[in-house]
Amino acid sequence: MCGIVGYVGEREASSVLLSGLRMLEYRGYDSAGIAVMSDGDVQVRRSVGKLQNLADLLEADPLQGRCGIGHTRWATHGRPSEENAHPHRAGRVVLIHNGIIENFLELRAELQRAGRTFSSETDTEIIAHMIDVAIQGGSDLLAATRSTVAALEGSFSIVVMSRDEPGRLVAAKSATPIVIGVGEGENFIASDVPALLEYTRDMLFLEDGEIAEVDCDGVRLSRFDGTPIERQPRRITWDPVTAQKGGFKHFMLKEIHEQPQAMIDTMRGRLLLEAGDVSLAEIDLGAQWWERVERIDLVACGTAWHACLVAKFFIEKLARIPCNVDYGSEFRYRDPILDDRELLIVVSQSGETADTLAAVEAAREKGSRTLAVCNVVDSSIARRVDSVLYTHAGPEISVASTKAFVTQLVALLLIAVHLGRRRGFVDADTCRQLLEEMLHLPTPLREVLDRADDIEAVARRYAKAENFLYVGRGLNYPIALEGALKLKELSYIHAEGYPAGELKHGPIALISETMPVVVLLPRNTAFNKTMSNMKEIESRGGQIIVVTDTTDAAVDAVATDVIRVPTVNPLLMPLLLTVPLQLLAYFVAVHRGTDVDQPRNLAKSVTVE
Ligand code: G6P
Repeated sequence: MCGIVGYVGEREASSVLLSGLRMLEYRGYDSAGIAVMSDGDVQVRRSVGKLQNLADLLEADPLQGRCGIGHTRWATHGRPSEENAHPHRAGRVVLIHNGIIENFLELRAELQRAGRTFSSETDTEIIAHMIDVAIQGGSDLLAATRSTVAALEGSFSIVVMSRDEPGRLVAAKSATPIVIGVGEGENFIASDVPALLEYTRDMLFLEDGEIAEVDCDGVRLSRFDGTPIERQPRRITWDPVTAQKGGFKHFMLKEIHEQPQAMIDTMRGRLLLEAGDVSLAEIDLGAQWWERVERIDLVACGTAWHACLVAKFFIEKLARIPCNVDYGSEFRYRDPILDDRELLIVVSQSGETADTLAAVEAAREKGSRTLAVCNVVDSSIARRVDSVLYTHAGPEISVASTKAFVTQLVALLLIAVHLGRRRGFVDADTCRQLLEEMLHLPTPLREVLDRADDIEAVARRYAKAENFLYVGRGLNYPIALEGALKLKELSYIHAEGYPAGELKHGPIALISETMPVVVLLPRNTAFNKTMSNMKEIESRGGQIIVVTDTTDAAVDAVATDVIRVPTVNPLLMPLLLTVPLQLLAYFVAVHRGTDVDQPRNLAKSVTVE
């Protein structure tokens, strides 16, 4: 989720690049840099931290030239530092990149054998070297880029320039977005529309597997294999704020729709399908560390705490290690029994939550090993724990967490498989099947997203309710809690989640015709029991919104509304069931007219205890 810009024309490139990067700041950043063709060579300026640091650097040490590239980085490989900031240089080539190169270790080893040396920890730098090698072998920039991208595995967008071909930029896209802004006597490149709106509204969107050759006279598109492409620019009428939201009304809705991709990015390079196993080399807790873990404490706050509750099911089922789940704010104050047989797993989107960080300190003091599942590279929690498994959700802007949550579930399931395989509690065939289904999960997830209009219709019917109950069983019970939390956060409706079986022990007293109850009803072993709970609600006049993968008429007979989802592996159901509940909360909030992206009294990251 880095920000990319490129410019070629008559203007001062550095100011176009900087203003474009400013418009992409919302994507998150930890460092930034630009490169401009100047005095016969490509000059680079980079700095860590806010974009203003780069602006200050450029003021002190300006770059003059009419062609250049710029980048804001959201770290994935290598910590945020000046060496790891883009653009990266190799010989005559300077390059910026968004995405992840999966086979970068092999490619780097190959380049090292050929005598190349590297100045960063990034996967990006190897791409610059590969293009430079190809140019040395006689290719021009376009051909060198073409042969290089053919050897890359993963998701990437790159923009590259060479000192031998001033006034020319080459962009290639395999997954992450690239848009070309078409001007008169000038052209622009960006990872997102907002960066270009100040200059042009005529945009060419690159598709996966396409390359653009851009100079001030025009844009030539072709496929990676060289086949030319004819495409007319599209006129974009979005205002700048809508453009930042990718055309969605709110960041939250955009982030909900980004979930299939975020899931893919979090799985990428970590699934070993043939072996029915996962590769989590990032987790380094000592040799054979998994053998020494006798208990696991899962600790987090808010939405991430719900991910921990689901993870308890994952880990206990697949790895048979007893798990305890705690709130960050409770953990250390209950004087937990901790020693070196304990593994503490903390889960945090931001990596800055004070209570979660305090849990890490408490566990470290007692000699327990610590592992974080975290979305922000080099955040406070990431720096404090023994190992980190990063989710690759990209920056989450909406205060209510959505895509971070599903990627936390993905990462935690990978940890459960990792432990289960190594401790011999689950066989390769079972895991292979699970991982294959996990890999295909973005498809049923998209099917749920495609039903957003139906969910909106349900939301409209209940938007005036003042109370809601959410119930589920087993590993979907935490999803009921998460659904209730989303509704509270966004719409300020009082909502509670319960295990369905607990209804009769108290909450059933609340049931009346003014109390909608959302029931999570996947077809699993608890189906009949949850159906009985629904009947108890029905006979007391409650309105029932069922979320289910069944087409059973008996369900429709009891339910007031039914939201249908595809059937997936029971262990993956929590990931899928989360999505309709996010949409339900979102649309209820929209109908009530609340501030969806910044609900009252809430903060995205809570850095005080
Ligand atoms: C805040 C946010 C929640 C988030 C929680 C934990 O309360 O509003 O959305 O779940 O913090 O944040 P973390 O960054 O640690 O996941």
